[in-house]
Amino acid sequence: MPCSSIALSCNLSKQIMCGIVGYIGKHKAVSILLEGLKRLEYRGYDSAGVAILQQGKLLVAKKAGRVEVLAHETAKHAFTGTLGIGHTRWATHGGVTDANAHPHISSDGKFALIHNGVIENYSQMKTFLTQKGYTFKSETDTEVLSNLVAYHYAKESSGDTSERFLEGVRKALQHVEGTYGIAVLCIDCPEEMIAARKASPLLLGVGDGEYIIASDASALVSRTQNVVYLKDGEIVHLTAKAFSITTLDQTEVTPIVDTITWSVSDAELGTYSHFMEKEIFEQPVALENSMRGRFSEDGSTAVFGGLNLTASELRQINRFMFCACGTAWHACLVTEHLIERFARLPVEVDYASEFRYRNAPLDPNALFFVLSQSGETIDTLAAMREAKRKGYRVLAINNVVGSTIARESDGGIYQHVGPEIGVASTKAFTSQLLVGAMVALYVARLKDMSFADGTEYVKALKGVPDLVRQVLKQAPAIKEIAKRFAKANDFLFLGRLSLFPIALEGALKLKEISYIHAEGYPAAEMKHGPIALISEKCPSVFFAPQGEIFNKIVSSMQEIKARKGPIIVITTEGTEFPEGLVDAKITIPQCHEAVVPIIASIPVQLLSYYIAVERGCDVDKPRNLAKSVTVE
Ligand code: G6P
Repeated sequence: MPCSSIALSCNLSKQIMCGIVGYIGKHKAVSILLEGLKRLEYRGYDSAGVAILQQGKLLVAKKAGRVEVLAHETAKHAFTGTLGIGHTRWATHGGVTDANAHPHISSDGKFALIHNGVIENYSQMKTFLTQKGYTFKSETDTEVLSNLVAYHYAKESSGDTSERFLEGVRKALQHVEGTYGIAVLCIDCPEEMIAARKASPLLLGVGDGEYIIASDASALVSRTQNVVYLKDGEIVHLTAKAFSITTLDQTEVTPIVDTITWSVSDAELGTYSHFMEKEIFEQPVALENSMRGRFSEDGSTAVFGGLNLTASELRQINRFMFCACGTAWHACLVTEHLIERFARLPVEVDYASEFRYRNAPLDPNALFFVLSQSGETIDTLAAMREAKRKGYRVLAINNVVGSTIARESDGGIYQHVGPEIGVASTKAFTSQLLVGAMVALYVARLKDMSFADGTEYVKALKGVPDLVRQVLKQAPAIKEIAKRFAKANDFLFLGRLSLFPIALEGALKLKEISYIHAEGYPAAEMKHGPIALISEKCPSVFFAPQGEIFNKIVSSMQEIKARKGPIIVITTEGTEFPEGLVDAKITIPQCHEAVVPIIASIPVQLLSYYIAVERGCDVDKPRNLAKSVTVE
């Protein structure tokens, strides 16, 4: 019987974007699980739990709240077992309670199960299982799955307990509609664990006499850098000494062991206060890594090893389609601007969540791109699958090596910025802008861009890390500006052309982490509605670099000032404004048009970060958000 003192009664609660971790080996599982859960906490942080299988018993502890709360709870128990599973949860609906936390135990007390995903047909299965005598202490879909495993296990008449365990899980999963990354323990198999996935990420870490299952590499990289990326429909059956992978239809899979190229220190805070701060400041190096080895020898264009498209195939492309969610969608908008501007080819950008349902007519010669830091965002993945189903070639710009999107795409470009832990994306965003600018260059050079213009463009891209360093030096001044404006309840971010998406991103960053209402608009559109918000209490952040439409932007600033709106301007070094027009000025160096959006992003990242810190917000784990949205 579980030793949990927790009453397992709760409302329906779907688990999305959760983190799962499982350990089997020689060491005490609980500390390894807690460490893994801490690292996975950015995937969900409203409750957490562990189950340890020791001396033939399933010991469970689960608590609403952060992993720290769970750690206090586990400290009260003698959890000494070397086999266990752990979960950190992010709920959409249903209360955040101890009972709703995972693991969930089958009503016969034999199985403990953790789950990331949504079981869509849980209700029919629950009716069926109830008729068969299974009982439920919660209304979670996960508890249904743990009972379904118990049911199929009990029904299996042939084979030993180990074979029946595997078949029980397999048969249960064959009946599941929905998505899952799961790990399961069975009381009759005290030295075994089973894990499986469908549309939720899951990796197997292959250690020295131990294995770790996790939703992402950050939870296992402190123990091993050797990993097997499980694919949809695969089930892994583990002991501490060996593992085997089969598919839902019992086909054996030969595992491919990959090596993670980053180490645990990349996923640690070091001397920084927050991951967001760390990730903002590591952008010069991250951007260097995104570009490494990606320029032609003559220095006039970009080269990509993984597009799987020849130059002549690319020349046939007459339109681009870009799909993404959240911050990555903003990067698509900037890339649209650059491809249209430099390669003179039309680009369409869509939210992945909209594209997948709106059945848009597409040009047969379009090339489809998806952008996703995590490579696991379910809407982006679904948009990609829809485009592939229609016969399009889909390329991915993605940071997490081995992610589902990376594996299912026809080719693509890795961002190589290392793990991004802060929920608010920073280095992954600027790297997407950089890679987008390189794609624009590559296509432009296949079309009409001259060698000289290409060379100048490449020089500008190579100079980005230093320009970012220069802007980062203004951090103390930006912190002071943040203090002055941190009490505002509304903000406008206004930019034009390629800086309109940066205005959107600035507004998103601020609202994500400081909970201030913020909106991004093209500066000239401000007159058509948002200007009604303007008062001395609503600051506007203007992007006003030197360029063709600089004077137009200054006119918009005047309109705001005439209504007493405070103005923070981000402008090119050396730019002067009429007396009294701006309340705070942040400068960026003069730079090539293709890189301005990258450089202009840095001040708004810093501004949002310092405002959120000033307001005492939990910067890395903002309320209600999760880093990787793996369920629709
Ligand atoms: C979530 C995150 C955002 C991110 C978006 C898309 O909403 O909070 O920061 O931009 O997902 O994520 P992806 O991994 O696909 O880039």
